[in-house]
Amino acid sequence: MYQPENHPRLGVCYYPEHWPEDTWEADAARMKELGLSTVRIGEFAWAKMEPEPGVYTWGWLDRALETLGNAGLSVVLCTPTPTPPKWLTDALPSTLRHSEDGLPEKHGSRRHCSVASRTYREQSRRITHALADRYGKNPHIIGWQTDNEYSCHDSTLSYGPEDRDAFRLWLAKVYGDINALNAQWGTVFWSMTYRSFDEVDLPNRLTADPAPAHWLDFRRFFSDMTAEFNREQCDILRAGSRDDMFITHNFMVAEMGFNHWDVSADLDFASWDSYPLGFLEKFGSRLSLGGDALIDRYMRIGHPDLVAFHHDLYRDMSRTGRLWVMEQQPGPVNWAAWNPAPVDGAVRFWTLEAIAHGAEVVSYFRWRQAQWAQETYHTGLNRPDGTPDRASLEIESLRDDLPKLSFSDVNDASNGDPSNTVGLYFDWDAAFTYEALRQGDDQNAIATTFAWYHCLRRLGLNVEFISPARMAVLPAYIIPSAPVLDADMVDFIRQTGAPAIFGVRAGSRDGTLNWLPQPMVCEEGAPVEPLLDDLFLDRTETLRPTQRIDVDIDGTTVAAKSWVEHLRVMGLAEPGSNEPPLEILAQFNPGQFEPSGLDAAIVRQGNIHYLAFDPDYEGMKAILEPIFDRAMIAADELPEDIRTRRSDGRLYVMNFGPEPFDASVLGLRGGAIVGEGTSVQPYTVSVFADS
Ligand code: GAL
Repeated sequence: MYQPENHPRLGVCYYPEHWPEDTWEADAARMKELGLSTVRIGEFAWAKMEPEPGVYTWGWLDRALETLGNAGLSVVLCTPTPTPPKWLTDALPSTLRHSEDGLPEKHGSRRHCSVASRTYREQSRRITHALADRYGKNPHIIGWQTDNEYSCHDSTLSYGPEDRDAFRLWLAKVYGDINALNAQWGTVFWSMTYRSFDEVDLPNRLTADPAPAHWLDFRRFFSDMTAEFNREQCDILRAGSRDDMFITHNFMVAEMGFNHWDVSADLDFASWDSYPLGFLEKFGSRLSLGGDALIDRYMRIGHPDLVAFHHDLYRDMSRTGRLWVMEQQPGPVNWAAWNPAPVDGAVRFWTLEAIAHGAEVVSYFRWRQAQWAQETYHTGLNRPDGTPDRASLEIESLRDDLPKLSFSDVNDASNGDPSNTVGLYFDWDAAFTYEALRQGDDQNAIATTFAWYHCLRRLGLNVEFISPARMAVLPAYIIPSAPVLDADMVDFIRQTGAPAIFGVRAGSRDGTLNWLPQPMVCEEGAPVEPLLDDLFLDRTETLRPTQRIDVDIDGTTVAAKSWVEHLRVMGLAEPGSNEPPLEILAQFNPGQFEPSGLDAAIVRQGNIHYLAFDPDYEGMKAILEPIFDRAMIAADELPEDIRTRRSDGRLYVMNFGPEPFDASVLGLRGGAIVGEGTSVQPYTVSVFADS
């Protein structure tokens, strides 16, 4: 069983196959000098490992491992399955992904095979076996990375014959009987009725929308295929490796092809790939927090919450309570619409930020900038000629700081003190349901969750992620987007008695997205009991971004935007009854032209709150303040560019802005451990003793 170390370390991604062998030794020595401990290799090297069918050329990899190991570096070896060689896809074309028009992808890039193809799966198992047999006991290897960024480049969904066959088998297993599928999918609508599972097809090349349950099952099927693909590799690697070796995968949150909770269940811990500037450019405008102005403001440091969101999510997915950043941006990348250089100090900043959120290792991508092929504008720790680039200097500056930042309990995600921590639900299955059942163009489960995350972080709180796969006892919970509600999760939350806020749509559908009269919780997709007694959902409307409806919360007027529900509240609190009363906490404030039926905007029963609207930042604060006051959660709004995280008896203060910040306003409990005095300089992280 892998045991994480109790002090943060640094690492690098390296491609020995890209560089002359006589440079490896000097590279390894310089890595060590720079203070690096881990090196990840091999994820795209299938054609080098097996240049002809069944002919393995391990010599170069043996020597690379030896060179790195002898220099005192620990290696993470990857399965090379994102890049099957040309001979393989020529001989076995049914391994290829098929695009929506049904045509196979071609060789010449990466991620061109489908995880649902049984032929590709056989090949994946074969090369994984070969690696485990050869390297499972190698003393220089500390663990494995499966594949590389499942779903990157939207590479999961596929529409080939082997995908279709596997989908039919999966449906037969889930439904047992075709009439059950017909009933759940509602196929009588538009004469979609099927007589056998062999008649069901993939949902592409359709004139109008597929049945929502058809699309949702297609997404769940590919999610399951990804988890199975990963599990097959994990089983082979585990069986063939030393007990103390770990297995991880490098995720990216916006890769929507699969449920990351499911894949992580087979790993020892989760890693992710952090590109703060690339992400800001790629996703900043989708997060509806400020459009171009926001991107300009943070263009050289990244958004104060976007990177942290990933750290928290992947840490909470890990069995060890720690995460790894497997790839860390070192300078300009090459793949966003525009690729600015980070502000001086940003690489040091991102490293300390990762440690604040529980990173055991931060591993930079890549050792040396490539001199040919697709990523020549992507910087590394060194330029192509081997001279150090800016990031190397910043890494050197961390040498004295890291030993001061050890973790006390390596297996505890909350670092011993969950009292200022709020649980936030996010599950990819909810995101799939949003996609399958749209009712307004700006509905996006990740963006809604992120908006709540942003609010909690602005209020100075730690966040832990929850899902049915991971529950934790915490002082409060927010479940922003969950159309299908898991009964065990809701039970757990009820039992804690902690205040829980459920956002619009919570529990509004069964497991195949069929309409329910009132918010319900489900067991295995079937509704079993109401989320709140006597609450009915009469209608839903969605609003253009220019529209708002006022809501009064204790005398404060806030805006309902985007999604609005018309609730019917029956049987309000009966005097003398033992049942927890259903109370209306806030009401819509109908204007002259607003439709009738708009009434309760927030209701509560026991510890469960239900919102009938999507609040903006001010609305969230107005909702949270009284709830946090009652629960004695100390929430104080931070300046826009400042974020904090309490962990392991330390307070990390991160300044994402151009002005110094005087941290003494936070009521510091101790002196600076990293940084000087109480002033946190622009674009730096200071760490203070917190007990
Ligand atoms: C990652 C990927 C790497 C490399 C990098 C460039 O998403 O895993 O292989 O392409 O992006 O930033």
